[in-house]
Amino acid sequence: MTSARSLRVPGIAYGGDYNPEQWPEEVWAEDMRLMREAGVTMVNVGIFSWALLEPSEGVYDFARMDRILDLLHANGIAADLATPTAAPPAWFFRAYPGSLPVDRDGRTLSYGSRQTFCPSSPAYRRAALCIAGALAERYAEHPAVAMWHVHNEYGCHNAACYCDTSAAAFRIWLRARYTDDLDALNHAWGTTFWSQWYYDWEEILPPRATGAPPNPTHQLDWRRFCSDELLSLCTAERDSLRRAAPDIPATTNLMVLRTFDALDYWRWAPELDIVSNDHYLMSDDPESDIDIALSADLMRSLAGGPWMLMEHSTGAVNWQPVNRAKHPGEMRRNALANVARGADGIFFFQWRAAKAGAEQWHSAMLPHAGTDSRIWHDVVRLGADLDALAEVRGSTVDAQVAIVWDWDARWALELPSQPSGELRFQDLVRDWYTPLWRAGVAVDFVRPDADLDRYRLVLAPSLYLVDATGAANLAGFAERGGTLAVGFHSGAVDENCHVRMGGYPGAFRDVLGVRTDELFPLLPGQTLRLTGQVPADASATLWSERIRLTSAEPVAFFADGPLAGTPAVTRHTPGSGTAWYLATRPDPATLSALMDRIRKDADVQPVLSAAPHGLEVVRRSGTDADYLFLIDHAGAGAEVPADGVELLTGKPVCGTVTVPAGGVAVVREPH
Ligand code: GAL
Repeated sequence: MTSARSLRVPGIAYGGDYNPEQWPEEVWAEDMRLMREAGVTMVNVGIFSWALLEPSEGVYDFARMDRILDLLHANGIAADLATPTAAPPAWFFRAYPGSLPVDRDGRTLSYGSRQTFCPSSPAYRRAALCIAGALAERYAEHPAVAMWHVHNEYGCHNAACYCDTSAAAFRIWLRARYTDDLDALNHAWGTTFWSQWYYDWEEILPPRATGAPPNPTHQLDWRRFCSDELLSLCTAERDSLRRAAPDIPATTNLMVLRTFDALDYWRWAPELDIVSNDHYLMSDDPESDIDIALSADLMRSLAGGPWMLMEHSTGAVNWQPVNRAKHPGEMRRNALANVARGADGIFFFQWRAAKAGAEQWHSAMLPHAGTDSRIWHDVVRLGADLDALAEVRGSTVDAQVAIVWDWDARWALELPSQPSGELRFQDLVRDWYTPLWRAGVAVDFVRPDADLDRYRLVLAPSLYLVDATGAANLAGFAERGGTLAVGFHSGAVDENCHVRMGGYPGAFRDVLGVRTDELFPLLPGQTLRLTGQVPADASATLWSERIRLTSAEPVAFFADGPLAGTPAVTRHTPGSGTAWYLATRPDPATLSALMDRIRKDADVQPVLSAAPHGLEVVRRSGTDADYLFLIDHAGAGAEVPADGVELLTGKPVCGTVTVPAGGVAVVREPH
């Protein structure tokens, strides 16, 4: 929340999506009473209200929204007022059937759900800007409105549309990227391959379903286009809101999830006054606390400081095959873990559990069971917790370690026709993030071309695609004295997905002091033993490659398989720094041991020298004080050296703070 337009809601904002239009108005008074009881300070309203706000084209009915905003204001609750553009009404699609999205296989999808519109549809853009503009004009001066919530989760259900309108928009985007030079596109895409050469821009289509694999660069440019196309809708709406209300900050809720990779948020975040995230637990993730932390650290990095958690859940969601409920205390730990990593607002989907509609089995702050429920009790408690943490707002996390995160690299890695179809960017990043999380080491995420000078250690767990600038930036960091570690199959291709010739890992051969002449991906289930400076039972999966050392020293070797005796992990000292290469995916214990050694090279210390197992440790730094967050995931409780005041209980801390089993402590440490 570093923009000039900041949120004028005090402390750590607290609330959720509020959909009063789904309820008779008699219920609203109870909503207000209970929101006050829970300490709710802001709610997100109007997100899916288009059909009620604009019953027919150009005819607005704001009476209900007037009453909602007045009521919120009378109760001292701020509104994050949404443009309802994620759910166009049925009348819109009947009038503009060409705005329905078409999938890869050419099927036109129907309305009757949400986000079924083509991002390139001119009719959709016009209609969205009209309703956004009308809302902005009507409510720019309304005292309840503290923030604009543009759309909802861009691209969640319609990240790509393959219709003819989208094809035309794609061509316009390509003409801009290749400065109207079709030969440049042909060279960038390598279209001499399989007779794909284009003689006319009109020949170019979206990567619709084909029998054999499509061209990789075509697909990569398509991903870039799809992200930019939605971003242009977002900034157009934002601008119409700003015209009417120049001082009200605008956000749109991003989504950093393992299952969502459609948008390049490095391009999105700078367009937002406040960066916000939606994060949900996957029921099949046994360590979702790590996923929360990774997502939160990435958000703080995108925001360049504090941010908001715009959605998470009090309990189970309703969109996974089986939806796991949260364990006792888990919701509180989840929420406070986000605060620990820079969230200055904690929100849920949604306030009141729905009676009807596709999300009737989704948890909420106020469950179907009402206030006589564990969830309600926990929601009230969390409100009090956040109130007690008000002074934490604005403080940030200082990290000495950066992990390179790049959406181009992610998209390219997961294209078909790779040496292995088993490579998943976020899993590979999480592998390396996990030991740092366990050790309580703060981490930022950075682009490959970021200013790295403030870091001691930079990790690139997976950077298949990198341009020359990014590669030189990372190499320069190591040469100037930093410690760099690079994961397998990195540096392999340039920004056009063209292989760097002369051996792998392409762009990083020199800085790593290695040269690989052949890749040996492992089959699912296949394991190789590792020897050398690794634990006795070290093993690896997923990947191996035949490395020749040019100037690096070996740290570990493959012990079996066709590469037995060749290096699997190497260390090099280019210039005045150190550069590690991990040419395989070591088992978690081995990776953790390696990460400890890599950290030693970089002299990176954790927040606590020896954190008990399962204790998440993060420090937020403020102007007058630091805030030590201690979150017990192991259920064992902990005694931790600290001095100051424990904010959740208000008790002074002299020498040691007790973290209750499964609980949280936050110690204000005065400077
Ligand atoms: C989000 C969405 C919300 C709600 C929620 C359910 O993706 O923004 O509107 O659907 O998921 O988990």
